[in-house]
Amino acid sequence: MTEPRIENPAIPSDLAATPENPTEVSALTTCVENLDLPRIDRHIFLCADQTKPKCCSTEAGLEAWDYLKRRLKELQLDRTTEDRPTCIFRTKANCLRVCMQGPILVVYPDGVWYRAATPPVIERIVREHLLGGRVVEEYAFLRHPLTGEIEPSESNIASPVENTEIPIVQSATPSQS
Ligand code: FES
Repeated sequence: MTEPRIENPAIPSDLAATPENPTEVSALTTCVENLDLPRIDRHIFLCADQTKPKCCSTEAGLEAWDYLKRRLKELQLDRTTEDRPTCIFRTKANCLRVCMQGPILVVYPDGVWYRAATPPVIERIVREHLLGGRVVEEYAFLRHPLTGEIEPSESNIASPVENTEIPIVQSATPSQS
């Protein structure tokens, strides 16, 4: 009997990872390995190139983003090396919802939020925080570490979605008055 297929509108049907489509599962596994995703130990989000620039100008955000990318690459922090089995991932966020005193930058899982993350401040974050393990206090405005644990599994890659029960929400019956 064929397993019912769960449609996810976010994934084109011809790319969906299903038991009938092992090539795409393999491509996803290769992508995960090429990006070193299982070896990320920190993830940096930076508000840049916003649809509505509020915390800083588009130019300032992009300058900060280019600087962050370049420094992580130059210092080989964006990939694993023979000496270091972990790496740092970076993501350009459209808006981190703080919307003032930007560029706003957050380092996870440390949960340290920085304001005014211009290139000189990013240089300090890289050297003092990422490499030295010391928060750059002058620019940190919040510490909220993420400490949640998830169950270990045999693989770091999620399996294709099993048949999942989706609860049906009953619409309210209009009151008879
Ligand atoms: S526009 Fe940068 S945090 Fe909202």
